[in-house]
Amino acid sequence: MFTSPIFCAIDRPDPSGALDLARSLEGAVGGVKLGLEYFCAAGPEGVRAVASEGLPVFLDLKLHDIPNTVAGAVRSALVAEPAMLTLHASGGSAMLRAAVEAKRQAGSSSWLLAVTVLTSLDDTDLGAMGIAGDTGAQVERLARLAVEAGVDGLVCSPHEIARLRRVVPAGIKLVVPGIRPPGSAGDDQKRVMSPAEALAAGADVLVVGRPITGAADPASAARALLQGAAGS
Ligand code: C5P
Repeated sequence: MFTSPIFCAIDRPDPSGALDLARSLEGAVGGVKLGLEYFCAAGPEGVRAVASEGLPVFLDLKLHDIPNTVAGAVRSALVAEPAMLTLHASGGSAMLRAAVEAKRQAGSSSWLLAVTVLTSLDDTDLGAMGIAGDTGAQVERLARLAVEAGVDGLVCSPHEIARLRRVVPAGIKLVVPGIRPPGSAGDDQKRVMSPAEALAAGADVLVVGRPITGAADPASAARALLQGAAGS
């Protein structure tokens, strides 16, 4: 699939810093994740610049709009040939299907990944939006909707892996942030898992930001995370 299951989240806006980091991580990670902060600052050119370094790029744009607009955005985003692209499952079945069809027409092999419920939201937030019941049930409902629409995978928190593995087909990829080395602080991530735990639970790709980007030697930190995962 990828040379490593670990993708490094490059959460910064400047192309030169992102490029330096991507170069330094070559051979140490499976790819890099570029999100909205980078995309809004550096645009598609900035994405292509990082992609041209050779590492697979996870383009985390979390698209959410009417079906026609999302289909167009998917077509535009796939020009940079990201390995993965995200959209919100809560955009609904027609939006998800339009995205899947746009990808098919583009002849792309990028993974379209659906985000279910943002992990920044809890039961109270969902209640305020008129969604009764627990967050886990809503995650499961949106995951089923996205899978039925034909997405390749889901982004989920480490603690949703086991539940989702029970309800989605085996081929559905699970891409998981909220990963920390065993015994380390979680920064602002409230519910974290180690790489070994997340892979054992059924994750395909692990998204790791600060434990790599904040290290004095990011490539060594990424390699250590992978060794820790393999060794346990
Ligand atoms: O630095 P850290 O490892 O916490 O970074 C995790 C990355 O994954 C960040 O880019 C963050 O925005 C993203 N992410 C997350 N939780 C989600 C979805 C995405 O932490 N539920």
